[in-house]
Amino acid sequence: MKRRAFLKSVAFTGAAGLILPRTTLFGANAPGNKLNIALLGTWGRGEAHFAGIAKENVVALCDVNEKHLAFAAQKFPGATTYVDWRKCLDQKDLDAVVCCTADHTHAFVANWAMNRGKHIYCEKPLANSVEEARVVRATYLKNKNKLATQVGTQRHAIENFNRVREMVRDGAIGELVEACAWGNRQLRKPGYLPAAGEPPADFHWDLWLGPSPAHPWNPEYFSGSSGMNCLQWNMYWDFGSGQVGDMGSHTMDLAWNALDAGLPVSAEGKGEPVNPDVSPVKLETHFDIPANDWRPAIRLAWYQGGAMPESPSPYVDLNRIDHGAMFEGSKGVIIADFNSRILLPRGNQPDMTYYHPRTKAKLIPPIGDFQQQWVNACKGNGKTSCDFDYGSKLIEMMLLGLVSYRVGKKIKYDGTAGQTDDPQANELLRRTYRPGWTLNG
Ligand SMILES: NC(=O)c1ccc[n+]([C@@H]2O[C@H](COP(=O)([O-])OP(=O)(O)OC[C@H]3O[C@@H](n4cnc5c(N)ncnc54)[C@H](O)[C@@H]3O)[C@@H](O)[C@H]2O)c1
Repeated sequence: MKRRAFLKSVAFTGAAGLILPRTTLFGANAPGNKLNIALLGTWGRGEAHFAGIAKENVVALCDVNEKHLAFAAQKFPGATTYVDWRKCLDQKDLDAVVCCTADHTHAFVANWAMNRGKHIYCEKPLANSVEEARVVRATYLKNKNKLATQVGTQRHAIENFNRVREMVRDGAIGELVEACAWGNRQLRKPGYLPAAGEPPADFHWDLWLGPSPAHPWNPEYFSGSSGMNCLQWNMYWDFGSGQVGDMGSHTMDLAWNALDAGLPVSAEGKGEPVNPDVSPVKLETHFDIPANDWRPAIRLAWYQGGAMPESPSPYVDLNRIDHGAMFEGSKGVIIADFNSRILLPRGNQPDMTYYHPRTKAKLIPPIGDFQQQWVNACKGNGKTSCDFDYGSKLIEMMLLGLVSYRVGKKIKYDGTAGQTDDPQANELLRRTYRPGWTLNG
């Protein structure tokens, strides 16, 4: 079977029914069965993907900064290079895309890639507006059994995520009542940067702005170190959602993974005064999450920038956990960071006999390498943990919290229709794009 025919057939077979002889030509890692990958955004976070994608065929590279393009081309000399991701996605031999561009282009790239039949790994956050999250989900659901998708929340593979989920599900805190997550990264900027001359000839600033409104060039947007440069631009409304999409994507995932949460039916955000240029540093958002088949309706919250949940005990200082999650149940509390967790039975009554930890054989299996999990899924081997259904709902909820914060009141949300009960909030569910840019192209 030819390589593309093989990849197509495994993708359409779906993960469940596929049995491959691992030692033959047709094994997932047999030479002819490598994926043809395009890397969009070839420096910074893109570099973190070099080792993983080097095991496949990297056939295309795209970056708006030609220096960064040349940097990656040294590593992948056989790849065709582009400065416009729309042109890159039209390269005929592509199977899969790894997207590490700026946040305001993620939903665009995700839709365009899936509409062209490409598997996609997209760095967090998956979207920059509620509408973007919903459109990405709709595109994904149309292609669900054909395409492997993963949101780049790689901390999800830390085994503590599984342990926290097991404790919540197995009743370590009795019946779940509420949960929250928080982050304490604080980056304050007064407003968009002033004009600072023309961009260098090898930096395609207009393509970097992409669908967002035009802003003057300023090199300070790109003064960060590799893998941290997003912290120079992600707090500006037109380019990101600040800590909501940044650490919020990772830390809410720690909570969300244990909740089987759907979309909220309400959102309430409060924080510092709204700045028209920059997303808030200090913010808290609260959501009502409907009941599901194993737990009642719960309250879920996100805190950032110094806003913090109340500690369940005077001897636990939550401020010492920079990025954490807490689950409160009828009989106790779990407090977790990415790597560890503690269990506090409530008061002196609980004897813990209600808690039946699962046997070792029933533990949730480890994910292993998170990026590799996606590569395997592209080849029909297994599923991803953070597909665009899971990931789009998480970011939709988080971004809805920002909408409520901006209108300054609690809003009700109809997740089926994608509408709130407030006309002003409904306006903020979507962004207006520059002419020539299509979200679902
Ligand atoms: N999963 C994680 O832990 C993690 C860590 C860091 C960053 N990220 C995410 O990765 C993304 C990139 O962050 P970064 O710090 O590397 O930012 P960055 O500003 O360094 O951008 C990365 C590269 O993408 C290029 N680029 C940006 N927009 C582009 C576009 N439209 N087309 C082509 N190339 C484009 C840049 O020129 C740069 O080379 C962000 O969305 C960020 O949230 C994720």
